[in-house]
Amino acid sequence: MKIKTILLSVCTALLFSSAPAMAKDIKIGMAIDDLRLERWQKDRDIFVKKAESLGAKVFVQSANGNEETQMAQVENMINRGVDVLVIIPYNGEVLSNVIAEAKREGIKVLAYDRLINNADLDFYISFDNEKVGELQAKSLLERVPEGNYFLMGGSPVDNNAKLFRQGQMKVLKPQIDSGKIKIVGDQWVDAWLPENALKIMENALTANNNKIDAVVASNDATAGGAIQALAAQGLAGKVAISGQDADLAGVKRIVAGTQTMTVYKPISKLADEAAQIAVKLGKGETPESNSKLNNGKKDVPAYLLTPLQVDKSNIDSTVISDGFHKKADVY
Ligand code: GAL
Repeated sequence: MKIKTILLSVCTALLFSSAPAMAKDIKIGMAIDDLRLERWQKDRDIFVKKAESLGAKVFVQSANGNEETQMAQVENMINRGVDVLVIIPYNGEVLSNVIAEAKREGIKVLAYDRLINNADLDFYISFDNEKVGELQAKSLLERVPEGNYFLMGGSPVDNNAKLFRQGQMKVLKPQIDSGKIKIVGDQWVDAWLPENALKIMENALTANNNKIDAVVASNDATAGGAIQALAAQGLAGKVAISGQDADLAGVKRIVAGTQTMTVYKPISKLADEAAQIAVKLGKGETPESNSKLNNGKKDVPAYLLTPLQVDKSNIDSTVISDGFHKKADVY
């Protein structure tokens, strides 16, 4: 495989050596964890549109939540001679070697939305994910200042899930220490899949005799699965539950009163900014950063955007006015 890679890079270099590195020459490989989740379809569409408007070419592949598939897809993008890799990792702990190979080929690597640990990243763009967790917990506490709380974490291999939990616990800890709220269970949802959340919630309700007052769910997909289990016990709308991503289904549940809130992360801003950063990296420029995070190997320069709490009171002034969802689809 090495010979092939060397030959390919020589041909690519010869092909492009004459022209200066213009955006039109920049080839981007976008490796996405799982396009089965609504929000990543939006990220892909907006990213590709913006990157192409800047003259770059984008190859997109979805790993559908499979670790080996994603590694093979990134290898494939390296062999195709991309200039920049934009990765939404399924598992942020297993990409060190393939990223080291990309760096040896002179490829720039941007971690998109989720940090990749112990890897030689060039840049990271996301929302302030601890803030996401704080917004989720604050919203539940406002509604349920005392009672039994069930913690439903996201994917255990998604670094964001850990950051959401850090933010949630920062807010909940004083209430736990004072005895006002009691944590009656804590499970993490593999691959963020609703069917896994449903099973976890069914078991939690059985184990606690339905005595659960609030569920700290980390995104809308898992909140949806949990709400199905609550509904089966006639508890939908009676148990406070958080979410994230402002999925259409999630926003509709907020209107219906079965989901308390979601966290809206303007994907247009994230994907747009990421496309500009990817093209800059491809041109050998240094993108502007407003933060940095240590990923176990280095302090990675980062650009973090601000997440917004959305509940019944501000759907119109956020996701509708932003054009994220149509009013007719939501109500
Ligand atoms: C997280 C992301 C969340 C949610 C989740 C499920 O990493 O930050 O917004 O989409 O993945 O894919």
